[in-house]
Amino acid sequence: MYDLSAIRKDFPLLEEYIYLDNAATTQTPVPAVEAMKEYFYKYAANHGRGAHRLARMTTDKYEDARETVASFLNADVSGTVFTRNATESINMVAYGLQWQAGDHVIVSIVEHHSNLLPWLRLRNQGVDVTVIPANEEGIIEPQQIDLAITDRTRLVSVNHVTNVFGSVQDIGKIIRLSHKNNCMVLIDASQSAGHMPLNMKHLGADFLATPGHKGLLGPQGTGILLLKDTETLMPIYLGGGMVNSVSIENYQIEASPARFEAGTPNIPGVIGLGRSVEYVKDVGVENIEKHEKKLAKKAASMLSDIPKVNVYGPENRAGVVPFNIHGMNPHDVAIILDQTRKICVRSGYHCAMPSLQRMGLKGTVRASFALYNTIEEVEALAETVSDIAALIAE
Ligand SMILES: Cc1ncc(COP(=O)(O)O)c(C=O)c1O
Repeated sequence: MYDLSAIRKDFPLLEEYIYLDNAATTQTPVPAVEAMKEYFYKYAANHGRGAHRLARMTTDKYEDARETVASFLNADVSGTVFTRNATESINMVAYGLQWQAGDHVIVSIVEHHSNLLPWLRLRNQGVDVTVIPANEEGIIEPQQIDLAITDRTRLVSVNHVTNVFGSVQDIGKIIRLSHKNNCMVLIDASQSAGHMPLNMKHLGADFLATPGHKGLLGPQGTGILLLKDTETLMPIYLGGGMVNSVSIENYQIEASPARFEAGTPNIPGVIGLGRSVEYVKDVGVENIEKHEKKLAKKAASMLSDIPKVNVYGPENRAGVVPFNIHGMNPHDVAIILDQTRKICVRSGYHCAMPSLQRMGLKGTVRASFALYNTIEEVEALAETVSDIAALIAE
């Protein structure tokens, strides 16, 4: 059984706020906060660098978190790299691959800026970039990828779920199609990891990027890059912790994942993330997916029934519901929702300007759901939006 009231006890902030900005970042459950507290109070030290017991304990806990994350996403431990966020994970691929002038990359128009700008900048190195369209609902038709692929295409980089519309891409098909044409694939799983089942080995993606601080419920400052083949990428940061021998003439880089984690990592964050991933696993990602989809469906349906309100995105959506009140600036709507009912939503372009501009939109209000949200919160949102829309009509 999905025990929502027990889950909500682990997120104290929800007693005071209606938090519907989960696509930006989620709340972190008490057990993960406790795990970080335990690190600071009982064994804080640096990772992998000391013979003393605190350093060994820190290293063990950090590596335990890696095993937890790898097992949850069914990835190889050696190909599970901790980063600061999804943006860093994607940039590590963009700048870790060795490009030749004339190489070709395919992305879509419905990407977050983090999965767009690193590729657009590669154009400075002579890399060709094709931005394929998506339909009105934010769905990428795999056929568009087929049409765009050339014999110079090296990589297709697309989202699994759009942060703007909640559209779910057919990534299985996209990966098969790309591999058939000898192209590597990066999946931006920022809006899917922890929200729906995700299995790196079954998918066969070459790279998968996700933050730790969204559906995986970890703290901010955590991210993950999964690699199918750890030899494909060069590390973009060099320094301590990622070499096993150094002389002035030469240096020998460690194997993955150490080679991709130069410098002192976010140790407390990763330990918190490991614990929050266990939390997601205990609740059950299939249960979470079902719950969030139910909330999103209800929200989309209640909001569309309100005169002067437009809801965007597909009917069968993940937990993201963008909308506008006709004639109102989305930021004003967000401010009123907060000031009247402490409802926290996102407003604006959601770091995906081209995705909204192609529809002539200057922004939306976005409600996005997590495992702890309730139908009552959806109703409170719809009631308040209805009140705001009625004011405009007067
Ligand atoms: C689809 C998508 N990609 C990438 C990102 C960037 O994530 P981060 O802020 O962890 O770098 C986000 C964040 O909202 C996102 O929704």
